[in-house]
Amino acid sequence: MRILVTGGTGFVGRPLCQRLAEAGHDLLVVSRDPASARDLLPAGARVADTVMAFAEARPEAIINLAGESIAGKRWSEAQKHRLVDSRVDITRELVKLCGRLAESDAAPQVMLSGSAMGYYGDQGDNRVTEETPPHDEFAHRLCERWEQEAKAAEAHGVRVVLVRTGLVLEKDGGTLAKMLTPFKLGLGGPFGSGRQFMPWIHREDMLALLEFLLEREDLSGPFNASAPKPETNAAFTATLARHLKRPAFMAVPACVLKVGLGEMANLLLTGADMRPARLEEAGFRFQYPTLDQALTAILGR
Ligand SMILES: NC(=O)c1ccc[n+]([C@@H]2O[C@H](COP(=O)([O-])OP(=O)(O)OC[C@H]3O[C@@H](n4cnc5c(N)ncnc54)[C@H](OP(=O)(O)O)[C@@H]3O)[C@@H](O)[C@H]2O)c1
Repeated sequence: MRILVTGGTGFVGRPLCQRLAEAGHDLLVVSRDPASARDLLPAGARVADTVMAFAEARPEAIINLAGESIAGKRWSEAQKHRLVDSRVDITRELVKLCGRLAESDAAPQVMLSGSAMGYYGDQGDNRVTEETPPHDEFAHRLCERWEQEAKAAEAHGVRVVLVRTGLVLEKDGGTLAKMLTPFKLGLGGPFGSGRQFMPWIHREDMLALLEFLLEREDLSGPFNASAPKPETNAAFTATLARHLKRPAFMAVPACVLKVGLGEMANLLLTGADMRPARLEEAGFRFQYPTLDQALTAILGR
């Protein structure tokens, strides 16, 4: 298939592009910096800095992962706008492309579009499936806008899948890479009460489920992309420390995080016991269903 990818140079996108190229797909990658992107992408991937540059290429599928890093900077009002606009603007362009291609009966068959566990907001101890009503807060509003923008492609006959992603785990990036240094120094520990849930997923499972959702023509709508056994922050912390053979007693009080990070502290202090109900119902098999299995694979290498 000819697959248009946004965010193809990222922590998820880069190995995804590698996997798709190895499976024989043609890649059309949108990047803000095509010259640097070419060095990161598989040989043969075409790169452009706008979505519309690929109108002639007629992509048959779209995978939309681009966006400013959620945990990169403190959430000032300006940064919140960047978080929203960096997702919504490119998604709107993708929908425009779908519309243009639909005029000549060549709309892409499917668009997988990013979203996150933040869609649900703070859910305390509730068990969360795709049916669970969200809690209204910034993370929810961000994901809601991103999802609504993507859903507009349905009007052009495109199958739209919304991938509500948990913390993607691998050691070369994302949350785990940030945690490894302090934990290796014995400075790790839970955040706040430690009772907040951290839905997580091994990156290999993330790539596999994206391929699964791409191929399964009967599936659309929201899918929780996280392992079937989420952990609380305290359990996650203890498991990581055990794998690294280090202590994890350095608890960080909630008030310290709130002063240091402002509203962004919510990312660390709240969460959702998110379950991949629809993926399991559809028959997707996780290679790494437990955190122990995931960390053994990641840290054992
Ligand atoms: N990793 C996780 O644990 C996780 C969890 C939940 C949800 N997600 C979501 O899944 C998507 C992929 O995750 P990821 O970890 O692979 O993301 P990432 O590495 O942080 O970034 C993905 C790509 O987005 C583009 N990008 C970055 N800042 C941008 C900006 N200001 N405006 C436009 N484009 C920008 C970059 O591509 P170019 O430089 O080539 O333009 C970057 O390679 C993201 O949207 C993320 O929010 C990730």
